[in-house]
Amino acid sequence: MSSSDNEQPAEGGNPTVPEKSKEQGVSRRGFVGSAGLATVGLALAIPAAMSFRSVIPNVLYEPPRRFKVGALERFTEGGVFVAEHRVFIFREQDTLHCIGAICSHLGCTVQLAKMPDAEGGFEFHCPCHGSLFRADGTNFAGPAPRPLDYYTLEIAVDDGQLIVDKSRPADKLWRLTVRS
Ligand code: FES
Repeated sequence: MSSSDNEQPAEGGNPTVPEKSKEQGVSRRGFVGSAGLATVGLALAIPAAMSFRSVIPNVLYEPPRRFKVGALERFTEGGVFVAEHRVFIFREQDTLHCIGAICSHLGCTVQLAKMPDAEGGFEFHCPCHGSLFRADGTNFAGPAPRPLDYYTLEIAVDDGQLIVDKSRPADKLWRLTVRS
C-alpha cells in the first residue's frame, strides 16, 4: 500500500484534513488565543492604572495670592495695569487701591476704557461677552453678575515694594495711605 492510500478517508469515517486547512485552523486558534490574552491583559491593566493614579495627589498649582508688584514710584497718579497678576493699581495723591481685572462673569481680563466725556472717569470693558463696569468696579451692563474684586495693599518691610494680597478682599472704599 502506498502513502497516498493512507490519506484516503475510510468508508463512513472522517475525511483527512488537507495540510493547508490544518495551517489555517492553527492560525485561527492562534488569533483567538492572542485576543483572549490581550483581553485579560487589558482587564488587569486598567484597575492597576486606576489604583496607581489614586496614589497621586490632586494638587493644583495656583499662582501666589500675595505678591509684590514693584516700588511705589511705579504707581504714579492714575492707574497701572499689572498684567502678570491681572490687577489694576490706582493712585490718588497719597492713597492707593487695587481692583482685580478678572471679569465676574467667566473670568476674562477686563480692559480699562476711557469714557467719551473724558472727565477723568473711565470704565472697565470685558471683551468676551460685553460686560461693563464703572470706575469703582460696579457692574452695570452685560452678563457679569457682580462687581470687580478689590484687594488689600501693603508695603513690604524689607524693600518698600507694594504688595497685593488677593487672599484679603477689600471693601471698595478701602485705601492704603502712603507718605509722599
Ligand atoms: S467673561 Fe466677561 S462678560 Fe463674559
